[in-house]
Amino acid sequence: MKKLLLGCALMAAAMPALAEEITYRKHIRPLWEDKCERCHGSNSPYLGAFEENKKMYVDDDKGPRMDSYADLLFFAAWPDTGALMRRLDDGKNTKDGQPGNMHKQLGKSEEERQANLRLFRLWIGEEAWTLKRPKEITKEELLKFKAAY
Ligand code: HEC
Repeated sequence: MKKLLLGCALMAAAMPALAEEITYRKHIRPLWEDKCERCHGSNSPYLGAFEENKKMYVDDDKGPRMDSYADLLFFAAWPDTGALMRRLDDGKNTKDGQPGNMHKQLGKSEEERQANLRLFRLWIGEEAWTLKRPKEITKEELLKFKAAY
């Protein structure tokens, strides 16, 4: 029993994220400010306007704006289902085995990228992490999303 408890304690220490709920406010927002805001912040256009002038914005290193909880969910759950996951995935779930093109933004080293990807994964929910598009996803799959505020 003692050994079991010790084992659990060690596991919890090694994976603090498992022990607590991952929320937008506590975990994702600071990470987003650090890694994503400079290109997806309030100086960026919303997706509709971004797409009208995509080349201009991309040349200026601007992606679509996603600077609130609701705006980030837009790219995870609906209507741009799976965009966040397709872009951040490390290649383990992509069709061609290549990482999504925002994966590199998650950190300078592979270790940092994996740690931050893990936070995004846990936020969406390990069970819910899917690269499916709006037309492919089922209601059951959408209902698995955690994405706590
Ligand atoms: C250096 C600038 C830059 C940084 C930093 C950056 N992005 Fe992007 N992002 C872009 C640009 C430009 C596009 C649009 C071009 C494209 O589709 O690849 C984009 C596109 C995206 C899209 C696709 C949106 C759509 O059209 O559906 C998502 C999702 C995304 N980024 C998420 C992130 C996340 C999350 C981070 C932080 C971990 C991040 N990006 C960091 C520049 C950036």
